[in-house]
Amino acid sequence: MSRVLVTGGVSGLGRELTRQLLARGDQVLVGDLAPSRTDDVPEDAAYLHLDVRSEGDWAAAREWVEREWGGLDLLVNNAGIATGGRIDVESLADWERVVDINLLGVVRGCRTFVPVLKAQGSGRIVNVASLAGFIHGPGMSSYNAAKAGVVALSETLGFELGPWGIGVSVVCPSFFRTNLHTSLAGTDSEMEATATSLIQGAPYTAEDVAAAVIEGIDAGEPVILPDEIARTMVATKTRDRAAYDAWGRDGGARLAHKGRSS
Ligand SMILES: NC(=O)c1ccc[n+]([C@@H]2O[C@H](COP(=O)([O-])OP(=O)(O)OC[C@H]3O[C@@H](n4cnc5c(N)ncnc54)[C@H](O)[C@@H]3O)[C@@H](O)[C@H]2O)c1
Repeated sequence: MSRVLVTGGVSGLGRELTRQLLARGDQVLVGDLAPSRTDDVPEDAAYLHLDVRSEGDWAAAREWVEREWGGLDLLVNNAGIATGGRIDVESLADWERVVDINLLGVVRGCRTFVPVLKAQGSGRIVNVASLAGFIHGPGMSSYNAAKAGVVALSETLGFELGPWGIGVSVVCPSFFRTNLHTSLAGTDSEMEATATSLIQGAPYTAEDVAAAVIEGIDAGEPVILPDEIARTMVATKTRDRAAYDAWGRDGGARLAHKGRSS
């Protein structure tokens, strides 16, 4: 039985991970934006207000974990938002928001709990990035850059913390159906409409992705590619760079054509 903290566990992937971890007997603390527990928090999970932008909230989460559990086995940095926009249309405020939540939110979580895991000499950190951390389609630079940062952070920490008995995994799914599009609040409404339809029309559910993520965690995989689209696209970029570049150029040309004709 593991003691697990899941950020962003009120909705989507975080909620499904929480449900599936509880079902197999783990203890889960959910941290999310709601000031107090809502009906969306799975019944047997504990709940704490934890805005991943707040150092104070992270300190309170560490205090809770040490007081209630005496330690932590698994930190899942899952909380995140969506952004989408062309470089000359999306606002800098949107860039700052996505970096603060999707990248620095993960950094804060790692900085808070690494001392706890080092003292134990055990534990695992699982950072939810995205396929966007590897595959950089046009019109999504802020999201892609923040998620690529999470991939780099995770790989770095995997090497750095291995000698301390701490494992690190990064999760890179392609689009799956959740409430992620409701966090879009930027300046490029056209790109945001595209992102919304990709999330809403995705072939995978949060349930599918959570099950594959848990398998990857159990196998100690450093990079968890939980769906077929993610596996295929990463393999293409790695083994057939020309095909990947052609895909990206085609997307860029379609975006430019749309921009010129609107
Ligand atoms: N849905 C997809 O297509 C997709 C694809 C790849 C990666 N992801 C990533 O999966 C993760 C989970 O997203 P989801 O799709 O389940 O979306 P979701 O919107 O359904 O869930 C995200 C959760 O994060 C919480 N959250 C947002 N900002 C927060 C903050 N500052 N502090 C604490 N909690 C916060 C939200 O309240 C929500 O409960 C995100 O990191 C997202 O970028 C999603």
